[in-house]
Amino acid sequence: MTCKFHEHADELRTNARALATRGKGILAVDESTPTCGKRLADIGVENTEENRQAYRGMLFTTEGLGNYISGAILFEETLYQKHADGETMVEKLNKQGIIPGIKVDKGLKPLAGGLPHETYCSGLDGLTDRAREYYAAGARFAKWRAVLQISSDGGPSNLAIKENAWGLARYARAVQEAGLVPIVEPEILMDGDHTIGKTAAIQEIVIKEVYSACIENGVLLEGTLLKPSMTCPGADCPTEAGPKEVAEYTIRTLKRTVPAAVPGITFLSGGLSEEAASVYLNEMNLIGGTPWNVAFSYGRALQHSALRGWSGSNLEAGQAAVIARAQANSEAAKGEYVAGSQPSSDEKLFVAGYTY
Ligand code: 13P
Repeated sequence: MTCKFHEHADELRTNARALATRGKGILAVDESTPTCGKRLADIGVENTEENRQAYRGMLFTTEGLGNYISGAILFEETLYQKHADGETMVEKLNKQGIIPGIKVDKGLKPLAGGLPHETYCSGLDGLTDRAREYYAAGARFAKWRAVLQISSDGGPSNLAIKENAWGLARYARAVQEAGLVPIVEPEILMDGDHTIGKTAAIQEIVIKEVYSACIENGVLLEGTLLKPSMTCPGADCPTEAGPKEVAEYTIRTLKRTVPAAVPGITFLSGGLSEEAASVYLNEMNLIGGTPWNVAFSYGRALQHSALRGWSGSNLEAGQAAVIARAQANSEAAKGEYVAGSQPSSDEKLFVAGYTY
């Protein structure tokens, strides 16, 4: 075993614990410029740097956001961007006690040798150097999204599982070298008609492989977070699962696979509606008894109503919507959310073949 001592071990532990503060979660607002463009197109707003600045600046200056949100994941443009009032976005977040994070992967690429639709996540070359630059700009954590799909042609293949787990572990180790807490994200897409039992069986294999690779790479687990998808049936499965069932399967899967040294699990919303994302998370916290904090790192489920409220200029409506979902998910992260107690949308946000 060749495992160098981590220069940043104390800081990594401290920041991972802070991100995993009970009752708080992460705002994922790291959409690449083309994906942000799709979001803005939905509300009839042009995808210009000025509009991205206005939208994200609106989110970050929402009064009280730091009461519910521990960290915000940014796209590179935002990490170096100023708010229209001249302060940097990083300063805006720091003022609220929200830790700035950065998406460091360079996107999904076709996996040669895998099934036709399978991918690996790119961006390892020069990653530690890039991570040092992000650290200097104020980032303290990172995200890398690997994607696996349950498919009727036997996916995910062993190759895809192995390659994506290894990539996540190499990434985690590389950014820890620069003092960034890695969010390890092995997303299993909701595309497909598979049952919840099938998702659970595959997810167990996937997450075990991820931690085996992390251990082999000497990743400091106490200085990481896991960002999994919830254990749900495929979007086209004829048998739907209720919140209790999803929560029970998800917690069972994670208890079987995630080391207790990991301080926090922050789920992605993956196309669930805003309301479902809160209700499922709440159910998991009602089960309780987990060694890790169980919270959220939502993109769509925190931003959907906020985007519509804002619609290009309505600061008040945008901020009212984001704070409502942030508070709801904060309550859900403590098992205290009363369904429907905050304005939300039931609209399913699932898009087949979604790209980030
Ligand atoms: P969703 O919550 O919209 O799935 O996004 C979270 C995320 O950051 C995916 O990488």
